[in-house]
Amino acid sequence: MKANRVIALIVVCCLSQWTAAEVDVEKVSTKIRDKYAEKQISKSTVLPPCQSCKALVTSFQKGMDRTARNKFDGGDAAWEEEKMGSYRNSEVRLVEIQEKLCSDLEKGEDQCHNLVEEAEHFIEEWWFKKQQDTDLYEFLCIESIKSCCPADHYGPECKPCPGYPDRVCSNNGRCKGNGTRKGNGSCACDAGYTGVMCDVCAISYYQAYKDEKVTLCSPCHVSCQGACTQAGTKGCLACKAGYRMDAEHGCLDINECFTDDRDKGPCGPNQFCVNNDGSYSCLECDRSCSGCDGDGPDNCFACSKGYFLKDNMCVDEAQYTRDRHVLFSRYAVYGGLTVATCIIFQNNHKIAFGIGLAVALYIAASEHLISQSNQNAGPKLPLEDVNM
Ligand SMILES: *[C@@H]1O[C@H](CO)[C@@H](O)[C@H](O)[C@H]1NC(C)=O
Ligand SMILES: *[C@@H]1O[C@H](CO)[C@@H](O)[C@H](O)[C@H]1NC(C)=O
Repeated sequence: MKANRVIALIVVCCLSQWTAAEVDVEKVSTKIRDKYAEKQISKSTVLPPCQSCKALVTSFQKGMDRTARNKFDGGDAAWEEEKMGSYRNSEVRLVEIQEKLCSDLEKGEDQCHNLVEEAEHFIEEWWFKKQQDTDLYEFLCIESIKSCCPADHYGPECKPCPGYPDRVCSNNGRCKGNGTRKGNGSCACDAGYTGVMCDVCAISYYQAYKDEKVTLCSPCHVSCQGACTQAGTKGCLACKAGYRMDAEHGCLDINECFTDDRDKGPCGPNQFCVNNDGSYSCLECDRSCSGCDGDGPDNCFACSKGYFLKDNMCVDEAQYTRDRHVLFSRYAVYGGLTVATCIIFQNNHKIAFGIGLAVALYIAASEHLISQSNQNAGPKLPLEDVNM
């Protein structure tokens, strides 16, 4: 009987473990599959032509770094060098570089392999004839495959970007198609600039500096509505909502909370108003208030139902009576204990002495506890005001 139960338990255990393991295996295999799929996608990613050529060149340069310290394998290296020329520019090294070409790319590996096939004769030409005098990128991507342009040139014919050479887009924007055979060379201006050449300040920016070479624009003050002529509130041509135009200071914050009649503020009947820059907010009054001009029970215009004014604060009536009762019964208990001690004292001095000590300790300890809990609860009732 017992053995059967144990076996059943073991079987159940194993089954649950086994199913859990099954789930894990499935999870792991999906993960692997996802990773693989991801890899396939990034492998088959198609980059823009110039970027793809750049990637090929980068990969080639890595191959050159990798083989920089290599020599001819085995044999008499000196003899090989003499007979076959130096390893540096040898076909052997080129083959070694090409073996791993493109395989280090994170994206567009397939495209890179195709490009290598297409451009093989250009790469060989560069390797054997041009290596000394031109850069591979320039030779391959700009001159041979013609998928890129020199920096600050754009389009099929590699025209110079507007403002070339030293003020392309006034240095306040990017030239569309820069460095590639694409784009039309128009300027895409940085924030705050506009115009064909990015030399005009955009709306809500003002011209902070200008000479024949440089235009600098800075944002208008937050209080400005639209354009401005200079920094700060004075520069505004118009003010945003929540601000008013002052002849001397420009746009000034409107204090929406300020009204002659306290009932006519912008907030609801049991709220108070807080002014801030450009606007205001309405916050709820304390529970004890019926109308207020600030937070807490000490800023009420009047007390709400169930509360009464005491020391300029609205106090909870029920809570106040309860506290008074508690206070009264506490002192009654102390009094009773003292009286009892006195009675015992008449009969037995020794016992009375012990009890008296205990009562004194009890009173001291409970008063201490009460004062501490009052401190933690924050200011509640001014106890010393309650007259017994
Ligand atoms: C154009 O591209 C080159 C790098 O290829 C960069 O240094 C330059 O700042 C770019 N110029 C513009 C105006 O986009
Ligand atoms: C250049 O192309 C952009 C769109 O990319 C277009 O908005 C702009 O008008 C074109 N500029 C010229 C000068 O053709």
